[in-house]
Amino acid sequence: MSLVRADLAKLPSYVPGRRPADVADAAGNLLPPVRLASNEVPYGPLPGVVDAIAHAAADAHRYPDAGSVELRGRLAASYGLDPDQVATGCGSVALAEQLVRATTFTGDEVIYSWRSFEAYPIVVGGHSAVAVPVPNTAEHGHDLAAMRAAVTDRTRLVFVCNPNNPTGTAIRGGELAEFVDSMPADVLVVVDEAYREFVTDPDVPDGLDFARGRENVVVLRTLSSLGNGGPAGRLAGRDPTCGRHRAQNRHHLLGLQPRPGRRAGRARPARRNAAALRPGDRRAAADP
Ligand SMILES: Cc1ncc(COP(=O)(O)O)c(C=O)c1O
Repeated sequence: MSLVRADLAKLPSYVPGRRPADVADAAGNLLPPVRLASNEVPYGPLPGVVDAIAHAAADAHRYPDAGSVELRGRLAASYGLDPDQVATGCGSVALAEQLVRATTFTGDEVIYSWRSFEAYPIVVGGHSAVAVPVPNTAEHGHDLAAMRAAVTDRTRLVFVCNPNNPTGTAIRGGELAEFVDSMPADVLVVVDEAYREFVTDPDVPDGLDFARGRENVVVLRTLSSLGNGGPAGRLAGRDPTCGRHRAQNRHHLLGLQPRPGRRAGRARPARRNAAALRPGDRRAAADP
């Protein structure tokens, strides 16, 4: 008998990069290696960040501000949003988990392009939702038409990774607007823009433009990939009260428009999707 859910054993594991110390030993200690396996920026933190972390560390014996009021206020001001439209968490993966938890019951479906960010299958499977990976186009980008066709009445959430990790492709022009507009109002579109700050092409749309005017679009951004912003995300991630902090933050996410009566009287839908992989194939496709 297993104490933990047996299905969790089927989830792909995150494969971390090699430890710099091991690489250094293998190379005969010639060069100090720089770890980049998780897309870290190779430069150090911006001036002031280390000081801010050190300053905050002096209060490590206190619970942090569960509402991240100051941080959310500053982020909101810099993006032209209302503070209530901003939620913070221990990294954007933690927020992605909260979004899946907030939107799905067991068996509900979450669509994402594959291959994309390796956390998606783990986040989805971890909450007993059904992962619906839709194969990338031949050019390794999102096949938005196929993703749209993969939507069923059980679809609760769609991840759109723009630019896509790890293929580096980006959705351009009006494609994202068309996709978002084509989504049912009760399907949450999560535009993961972990690499937004590296986009130089003006033709790549800013997900926030969609999130501002629509109830069913949220955008994930992270300080991790910037490599400089660690003070909030990283500190919270290491803090022993992180779980509590995230739970507290859930009310921001749950502030999304409710979907009254959606499930009442629903028959289990037939899959309308030809492009998405069959359930058996999904697990295989999700294996990184
Ligand atoms: C697409 C994407 N989203 C999110 C993340 C993780 O962000 P965080 O460190 O904020 O959890 C990454 C990191 O590799 C990523 O590639």
